[in-house]
Amino acid sequence: MSLLIRNARILTLGSGTRPRRGKELADLGIIPTGEVLVTDGKIAAVGPKVEAPADAEIIDALGRVLMPGFVDCHTHVCWAGDRLDEWEMKLRGVPYLEILKKGGGIHSTVKAVREATQKQLAASLRERLGTMLREGTTTVEVKSGYGLNTEAEMKMLRAIRRAAAEWPGTVVPTALLGHAFEGDLEEYARMVVKDMLPEVSKEFPDIAVDAYCEQGAWSVDACVKFFEKARKHHPVRVHADQFNSLGMIPEAVRMHARSVDHLEASTKKDLIALAQSPTLGVILPITGLHTDQRFMRSRLFIEQGGAIALATNCNPGTSPSHSMPLAIALAVRFCGLTPAEAIVAATVNAAAVLNLGDRGTIAPGQRADLVLLHHKDERALAYELGGNPVATAICGGLIMR
Ligand code: NIG
Repeated sequence: MSLLIRNARILTLGSGTRPRRGKELADLGIIPTGEVLVTDGKIAAVGPKVEAPADAEIIDALGRVLMPGFVDCHTHVCWAGDRLDEWEMKLRGVPYLEILKKGGGIHSTVKAVREATQKQLAASLRERLGTMLREGTTTVEVKSGYGLNTEAEMKMLRAIRRAAAEWPGTVVPTALLGHAFEGDLEEYARMVVKDMLPEVSKEFPDIAVDAYCEQGAWSVDACVKFFEKARKHHPVRVHADQFNSLGMIPEAVRMHARSVDHLEASTKKDLIALAQSPTLGVILPITGLHTDQRFMRSRLFIEQGGAIALATNCNPGTSPSHSMPLAIALAVRFCGLTPAEAIVAATVNAAAVLNLGDRGTIAPGQRADLVLLHHKDERALAYELGGNPVATAICGGLIMR
């Protein structure tokens, strides 16, 4: 069965799936009034006018914007418990790293995750994924990282796999094996390399690995030792420079990391080095808003030719939102992206972070993950704050009703 969407303002996002840089970042590849034919879950044709079978189901877009589904390329959306007491502490001025140092923060969520069953973790994740899809997110990266021992990390990864199987969108798991540590960091990091990594590799051979390089979390030295071992089999991603610039960027670039995420505290020199490398920079503006009003210097990064992607970083500590439209709205207000750049960062560039070449653009052969907005002008997506701009989400060719 085919689906024809007609009378739409189509943001094709251009051709090719390589990450967009520099001026390309503002190119939405717009067809002002056009049609998209979807067959067997894929885009069969796109253009001002396309040929469609007589029995195709028809959606009249009424001139509204049709664009690729959002790709949320950095989340911690699998968790248990809540952090409301700590949030009140933060509101009274206690910094995030202080709470972490005292055994709270990530450690509070670790305790709750260890107490939850795999089934409970999968069920709450599934519910959050449902909300994300209603807001236009059709692909979600989900990190582990709240287990901090092999058993609990594996439980998280299996819960993520289980929730993914019940969701029409695509979930890409990431093994965040270096999120925090218990006891002595050096000993803990050795255990991760010796015990946890081989277990993960056995059951999830293609999974990307991640670590949080920060004071009170993993040092540059621990990250480098872990990644040097892991990168023989796994793509590498890294959280760096959220609060402090520790010197992780040059190492990430040297090790050909897929992405470096956060970057709020990065030096100019490091941002330029990252911008001139194949590694993508991922901005997380909801975290800046919620945590301490610091944001990545994205304009400098873009002007230096950097490939930028955008994500929610949905998690119970620094970013309690799974809304890509909100991330876009904040990227424009606080990181200096134009609405067009934010849309590119949230679709084709975010797909590149996950190495998914079959989405993020509207072109023949691509997966039919599409979003029809309520708006006729895509700038309204960045303008609107806190609503849901999505009229209809289409996921793998299926209309989500
Ligand atoms: O990316 N900072 C490290 N990880 C998350 C926060 C996780 C948490 O506080 O639970 C982040 O902001």
